[in-house]
Amino acid sequence: MAIPDILIIGAGAVGSFSAAVMARKQLGTIYLYDIKEDLSIGRALDINQASPYLYTDTRVIGCNSFEEVPGADVVVITAGHARHAGMTRLDLLNKNIAVADGLGNTIMARFPRAKVLIVTNPVDVLAWFLKNRWPDMNVFGLGCSLDTMRFRYFIAEEVGGSVDCARGMVIGTHNDDMIPLVNHATVGGVPMRHLLSEDAIEKIVSRTRSAGTTITQKLKEHSGYYAAAHVVTQIVESIVFNRLGTFPLSVYCRGEYGYDNICLALPSVVGSDGIKRVLEIDLDDREHIALNVCASAMTEITRSIQ
Ligand code: LMR
Repeated sequence: MAIPDILIIGAGAVGSFSAAVMARKQLGTIYLYDIKEDLSIGRALDINQASPYLYTDTRVIGCNSFEEVPGADVVVITAGHARHAGMTRLDLLNKNIAVADGLGNTIMARFPRAKVLIVTNPVDVLAWFLKNRWPDMNVFGLGCSLDTMRFRYFIAEEVGGSVDCARGMVIGTHNDDMIPLVNHATVGGVPMRHLLSEDAIEKIVSRTRSAGTTITQKLKEHSGYYAAAHVVTQIVESIVFNRLGTFPLSVYCRGEYGYDNICLALPSVVGSDGIKRVLEIDLDDREHIALNVCASAMTEITRSIQ
């Protein structure tokens, strides 16, 4: 099998840590690009010098120009501004839309067949923006994949069990409207509702919704990146090895769950061609209403951009 080429655009915290985690997992040849001269080259040197301890011969190649990237099976966009304490993800919209706009033509011209995973916030809006402007781009967003990791972590903590056994998903949008699917969450196959009180479940939901903000409040000048880098790596792994993992990725809706022309984080099977299938799961009335809230907010934001 040919060694996959993975291009990470943005050598900030999320981009460079993703490169390090991907190198550790030997996912392919990793090209790390940043607009800031030599940043990606310094990061790549640092990551590669860790390789004797990571026991991997995978190389990260820092690039100052896209000309240095011969091809890409997967493009991960982490470039853009991160929020500081006191900001919402939506506060980044104008600045980061300009970043995405600048990258779209390059991606389509140089890597038209790549699967494009956008991580930059506000992720659901930017996924929609790229798909709307370049309909042939095979693009999807991180969506609620990071929130799902957090949800599982908080469930495991509350139950006092291994995070491996805690299963669940968060859908909707990657902001305060996100919907942790408590009715579908299980621990070791047992419904979470059978194991935890309503209060404990409420606490998990609220910690999940505020997790990113809580980290940003502590870090002050940027947001979290360790967990993001790991989930980005899992998604890229699912693409390059066609693992068909299921993640709540931000997908462009064409009738899924009754929505059109917006991106929502919905359970998606992802493999070597990108999104293979969006899973339609049974939602109860409250969850339906909550998903409508996410969809209406997305529709309103996208209208303001058109
Ligand atoms: C996160 O949830 O950690 C990321 O979306 C970054 C942020 O701004 O919170």
